[in-house]
Amino acid sequence: MSETATLSLGDRSYELPVSVGTEGECAIDIRELRGRTGYITLDPGYANTGSCLSDITFIDGDRGVLRYRGIPIEQFGSDPNFVEVAWLLIFGRLPSPEEYRCFAADLTAHANLDEGMKYHFEGFPRSAPPMAILSAMINALSCFYPEYLELEDDVTFRMMAARLISKIRTIAAYSYRHSKGQPYIYPDPKLRYVPNLLHMMFSQPYVEYECEDVVRDALNLVLILHADHEQNCSTSTVRMVGSSQANLFASCAAGVCALWGPLHGGANVEVLRMLEDIHRGNVTPEDYVRRAKSKDSRARLMGFGHRVYKSFDPRAKMLSVVAERLLMTLGKPDPLLDIARKLEEIALEDPYFVERKLYPNVDFYSGIVLRAIGIPINMFTVMFAIGRLPGWIAHWWKQIRTQPGRINRPRQIYTGNGLTDYVPMAERESNVG
Ligand code: CMC
Repeated sequence: MSETATLSLGDRSYELPVSVGTEGECAIDIRELRGRTGYITLDPGYANTGSCLSDITFIDGDRGVLRYRGIPIEQFGSDPNFVEVAWLLIFGRLPSPEEYRCFAADLTAHANLDEGMKYHFEGFPRSAPPMAILSAMINALSCFYPEYLELEDDVTFRMMAARLISKIRTIAAYSYRHSKGQPYIYPDPKLRYVPNLLHMMFSQPYVEYECEDVVRDALNLVLILHADHEQNCSTSTVRMVGSSQANLFASCAAGVCALWGPLHGGANVEVLRMLEDIHRGNVTPEDYVRRAKSKDSRARLMGFGHRVYKSFDPRAKMLSVVAERLLMTLGKPDPLLDIARKLEEIALEDPYFVERKLYPNVDFYSGIVLRAIGIPINMFTVMFAIGRLPGWIAHWWKQIRTQPGRINRPRQIYTGNGLTDYVPMAERESNVG
């Protein structure tokens, strides 16, 4: 017999079903709780709330395990190929050589933006944050592909996914070119996904950017390591928006906005600012850690801590190795790497971080890798978004296909005024001092 949980409320008790995942994770299923008891659960921040069953990504935060469709993340390190991982996440298994070739060909075929979209870029000030442009332009894709707004079948979905994965790269590159006042560089159909992104960002008219293998592999790995992380803030946002049956472009545009915040994807920018601050001598690593521990300050040690990982984030481990290897191969030592290592050493020996199980997360070393590749700091979170897109698409599609689809709509416990009468304006007292 399957396990149940017993809930006592006053003199009544209720049996609630228990769901068990492949890896033994358990959840009390409260779907019928309110109907049966009149009670809801209260869980600000959702740390104890499972929003769905999912077969996409598995994390064991206590053991530092991350698997995409069952495959440990470490196995993508030796021959990183972001497009293959995107397929795996979205379609549930590794592509056959033929499937991979077709998908890669679709990405190449759809890399260009409608020429009309260029005028949208012109409307933004040069100083516009690229994450704002990225979100706006992904949403704007809905205007150019109305045929995808009502999703009919798997084939249409595949085309839409390919279009979005390809075009996000072009939008990202154009937002960078716009910020520099440089001409847009069209995608080159001869190039693969990552070299093409770097080509669009860094080639100049008549001067081709040449992508070194070590750079290509490092960026492929960065994108793969960001590709999915189950129900994180941005993915949950994509699912929340998608639950109203909003289209994929609108849902992913919302995901970009959620990712932007410094507690989520924007942390990679904050980490680099922190390291630069220390490098300039404005503050010592010891002072930074002291400030992050102080309850009087809102400062945190950026790139440290995680809602799920209570031991090492495996992505941080891999990125730390990649950073070292990349800098060495390029012959470009970076003092920020030494500062990061020093900060990590101090924090990991400090009881504050030890007791709270705060370890480096994916954002701690990713900025050093991106900086070595030549990505400017205002594009860091955009790179995270390009990486995370396959995960968003996979979760959105999974949700759309899961029946019965219900709109996501949490409840609340109201703590405001009791019944209160409206007072007409003329009868109200002035409260201007
Ligand atoms: N520096 C100092 N103290 C911290 C930190 C940190 N980076 N992270 C957590 N804490 C403390 C926090 O103050 C709290 O202490 P206390 O119990 O005394 O009140 C305790 O640790 C638990 O923290 P929490 O805020 O309840 O943890 P959370 O699960 O809600 O937040 C987090 C997770 C990632 C938002 C948080 O650790 C954080 O703000 N880290 C810094 C920002 C960052 O690196 N974000 C990237 C996250 S990983 C990639 C991604 O999602 O994009």
